[in-house]
Amino acid sequence: MAVRPILHYPDKRLRIPGKPVTDFGPEFQKLIDDMAETMYAAPGVGLAAPQIGVALRVFIVDTATGEDEPSDLRVFANPEIVDRQETILFDEGCLSFPGAREEVERAERVRVRAQDRHGQTFELETDGLLAIAIQHENDHLEGKLMIDKLGVLRRRLLHRAMLKRATNDARASKSTEQRESDEKSRRADRD
Ligand code: NI
Repeated sequence: MAVRPILHYPDKRLRIPGKPVTDFGPEFQKLIDDMAETMYAAPGVGLAAPQIGVALRVFIVDTATGEDEPSDLRVFANPEIVDRQETILFDEGCLSFPGAREEVERAERVRVRAQDRHGQTFELETDGLLAIAIQHENDHLEGKLMIDKLGVLRRRLLHRAMLKRATNDARASKSTEQRESDEKSRRADRD
């Protein structure tokens, strides 16, 4: 298992729609394990394959966020939301928008049909955080992001905040590289 890097907005790969999962073999099992490890390390309640640069129609969710709650990892491959009922506003975050919280309109209750990690088809009707997470992650599979659901002003503010963050991150990683190369040349001097 390995923690994979999570892509941050505005990375263009987040906009690539996922292809259907057809092979539930060892490579797919490893992908699911890596996704779970990546999600728990973040930590987050959901992660879609496109968020780690894998354009496949699969996401995972674990809404057991309490410290004493046993984990409740669910895999949704080739999901289809077949029914949506009522609407609510929900304060959402996204691992691809670090630090951001935005109120997004969602259905309160959904019915979803999907395949589990072994390709077994199941149907689930749910509400609450799980229903929200399913809709949020399902959007990722279409290349849709929570920013798309905001009004013009909030969309612009979030876009700017994320660009600023991306610039700062790039600067920080550059100075880390610089430090590492300084360190290397110091070592080379010593050797
Ligand atoms: Ni997300």
